[in-house]
This record gives sequence, C-alpha cells and structure tokens, in this order.
Amino acid sequence: MKRFIPHTELARDSRFKRVHPRNQLLQSLPDEVDEIVKVFELIAPKLRERVEGTELEAVYDDLGPGYQFLTASGGRQGQGDRSTMQMRIQLHAIYVGELQALEAAGRTLWDFTELPWEFKMNMARQCWDEARHVQTFEKLIDHVGGEVGAFPENTFLFETSCHDDPVLRVTGVNRCLEGLACDAFRSLIDQGKRAGDELLAQAVDFVLADELTHVRFGSDWSRDFTKDDPERAARARAYQQETERAFSFGGRQIAREERLEAGFTDEELDEIEELAASRGGAPRRETLVAAAELLRDRHRARARGEDVPALG
Ligand SMILES: [Fe+2]
Ligand SMILES: [Fe+2]
Repeated sequence: MKRFIPHTELARDSRFKRVHPRNQLLQSLPDEVDEIVKVFELIAPKLRERVEGTELEAVYDDLGPGYQFLTASGGRQGQGDRSTMQMRIQLHAIYVGELQALEAAGRTLWDFTELPWEFKMNMARQCWDEARHVQTFEKLIDHVGGEVGAFPENTFLFETSCHDDPVLRVTGVNRCLEGLACDAFRSLIDQGKRAGDELLAQAVDFVLADELTHVRFGSDWSRDFTKDDPERAARARAYQQETERAFSFGGRQIAREERLEAGFTDEELDEIEELAASRGGAPRRETLVAAAELLRDRHRARARGEDVPALG
C-alpha cells in the first residue's frame, strides 16, 4: 500500500463533491465593504461552480457570491443560534472533517513505521474514535433533515496532515484543528441545550470527550518528538501558529476549560484568543456581512434584469 498519499487521492463515492480550500482569500482582503464586493463579483463564476450540484446552489442563487457570510457555519461563527440551513452546513462540515480525521490518523499510523509503539496505539485508538464520530455525525445530519453529500467537501483537514514530519501532523491536526473542533463542539452542545435538543447536546458531548483525548495526543507527542530538538520544536510551533491563523477568521469563543484539560497552557490559550480576536488579519465579521448584503442586493437586482453599475 502506498505511503504519503496526497489529498487528491482520497476515495469518495459519487455522492461527494470536492472543493479546494480558499482560506488565503479572506486574509488577503481589506476591511472595506466595496473592495470585498469587487473581489467577490470578480470571482463569482468560480464560486458558483464550487456549489453546483449541491444544496448550496440554491442558496447561492438566492443570496449571490457572498452567501457564505450570510449562512456561515457555526464553527466559524462560534456563537449564537443557527438556522436549520446553518446547522446542516455545519454538521456536514464536521462529518467530512471526521472522515478526514479518520483518514489522517490512519495514514499517520501507516506512514511512519519507525515511530514508538505507544504512538501507533494512540493513532489506532484515534481511528476507532473517528470512525464512531463519522457514524454519530451521519446520524446527526439525518436528525436535522440533511443528507450526506449535500454540501461540497473541503479537504483542509487531511491537507494539514500531508506532512512528512509526524510532529507537524500532530501539531496541525491534533492540537490545532481538533482544538478548534473542541470550541465548535462546546458551542454546539450549548446550542443543543438552549434549543431543547438533548440528542444533539448529548451526542456532541460524547464526541467532545474523545476530541480532548486526541488534542492531548497532539500535546504529548509534539512535546516528546521535539524534546531534544529545539529547531524541530520551533518549526512545530511556527506551523501551529500558521494553521491557527489560517482558521482564526470570523471570531469565535475558545473552549478554555476543555483545551486546558487537553494540554494547552494558559499562555498558549491567551495567544490563540488574541489571534481569534485579530481574525488572523482577515476583515471584521461586520464588514463581511455588510459586503455580503450588498452583494446579495446587487445579485438580486441583476436577476430582476436591472442594470447594476460597477463600484467606483
Ligand atoms: Fe472526531
Ligand atoms: Fe479527533
């Protein structure tokens, strides 16, 4: 069996549609409504193509190229109540994330034959957990009336694990992305409780307990792998910050208590909170939403056959 497979070789059945992440785009945008509108209208055909054949197609056709800021998944939004559509989008994004987490842990177990037995046992345990999470979220998608494959799949989680240094895999995936998942899961549990959806709250609570273990694997092994190698430790730290920055837009609440339990230090959490507050250099949420509203109005005017003037 091949080692180190690229994300393009992940196997999916015909229900799935694959898109490539564009996290860099947000970081490159200025905090100005008109500028954001110009960029999104320019790339509108590409954005439309990405949602074609999925449930987002109708959302795009209604709201235009800024639709994602009007229906943003709770993971990025991190707080507040979600609409049914937002819930479906978020649960689906988590579902494909669980799938890729299973694939990433499985690959890491397979790719590095020389690593300690305990590490491999931890990765095997993680595969077992992630497989259960895939099933849990498949059922939760069903629970909110969604469907597997209804939304495009973005492979950023697996891509974060495409490194030939295992320490970068466990810092990128286990510490960073699964740390972010803890924040999103905490917020989902709270929403479930607020909405009286015990099934959602309880199911996600079970998953969160496992994720804490996975983040802890990341904390423990990144420390172990780099203990006699300050240069490698610095690379791991830089990679974690880079990944953290790429996913820090939108502003979100950090699940501090859970993350402390999973091996984050107070110092690291202060840093992550600061980064989340600065949105990794991306525009403010209010600016994005205002731009999305303008994009929607211009899109609808065009659909009515009106003449929409270019922005100055
Ligand atoms: Fe998971
Ligand atoms: Fe996990």
